[in-house]
Amino acid sequence: MIEIKNLVVQIEDNRILNGLDLKVADGEVAAIMGPNGSGKSTLSYVIAGKEDYEVLDGEVLLDGENILEMDAAERAAAGVFLAFQYPLEIPGVGTMTFLKAALNAQRKARGEEPLSTPELIKRVNAAGEVLEIKRDFLKRALNVGFSGGEKKRMEILQMALLEPRFCILDETDSGLDIDALRIVSDGVNKLRDPGRSFLVITHYQRLLNHIVPDTVHVMSAGRIVKSGGKELALELEANGYADYRQLAAE
Ligand SMILES: Nc1ncnc2c1ncn2[C@@H]1O[C@H](COP(=O)(O)OP(=O)(O)O)[C@@H](O)[C@H]1O
Ligand SMILES: [Mg+2]
Repeated sequence: MIEIKNLVVQIEDNRILNGLDLKVADGEVAAIMGPNGSGKSTLSYVIAGKEDYEVLDGEVLLDGENILEMDAAERAAAGVFLAFQYPLEIPGVGTMTFLKAALNAQRKARGEEPLSTPELIKRVNAAGEVLEIKRDFLKRALNVGFSGGEKKRMEILQMALLEPRFCILDETDSGLDIDALRIVSDGVNKLRDPGRSFLVITHYQRLLNHIVPDTVHVMSAGRIVKSGGKELALELEANGYADYRQLAAE
C-alpha cells in the first residue's frame, strides 16, 4: 500500500504541491490526470527522490515506511521506479552496461548475488522481445539517437527487469505512435500483479483504453481534487479540466 499524506512541496519558493493526499492499494493501477503545470511531474520526482525539491510537510508511506527519509538509491532498492517523461540520453554508457549496473546495484542493496552476464542477457532479451526492442539497440549508448517511442520502450524494459513494487509512469504515452502505444501498454499490462502498484500519469484518455486503471484522480494546483473510477477519465476527455480548476481555486 502506498499512502501519500498532506504532501507540501516547493521549489525556489514556488509552492507546487499543496497538501496532496492519495492512496494506492497493492495491485491497483491509479491514473492521475490534470492540466499542464498542476504538479504531476513534480509529484513523480519527489516520490522517486530527485533532489532540488523542498518537502515542507507530509509523508509518502510505502508499506508504512516513509520513503522521503531515504535517498534515491534506497528508494529504488525498496522498489520505487519512475519511468521518466523525458528519458535522458547518456552518451558513452552502453545500454547493456547500464542495465547490468542498475540491476546489480539493486540486487546488492537487497543482499542478493550479482547476475551473471549470460543470465542478464537472457532476461534482457526476454523482456526486450515483449517490447519489440531490436537487439542492436542494446549495444548502443543509452537512449542516444533513440526516437521518443524507443526511449519510452527502454524505460519499460528497465521497469520489467527491476520488478519494482511501485511503478510511476510519467506521460509514458507522449511521443508514442499508435503501434508503440500498444506495445508499451502490453508491456505494462504484463507487469500488473497483486503485489505491485502503479501510478500512471497521463493527459489523455487514449492511454487508459490500453492500460485500464482501477482508479482515476484529477490533480489541479498541486492537490487531488477529485477521485473516481475509470469512467472519470472519459468524463474529463469530454468536458476538459475547467470544472476542476475551479475546485482547486476554492
Ligand atoms: N525547477 C523548477 N523551478 C521552478 N518552477 C518549477 C520547476 N519545476 C517545475 N516548476 C513549476 O512547477 C509547476 C508544476 O510543474 P510540473 O510538475 O512539471 O507539472 P505537470 O507535470 O503537471 O505539467 C509548473 O508551474 C512549473 O513551472
Ligand atoms: Mg509533467
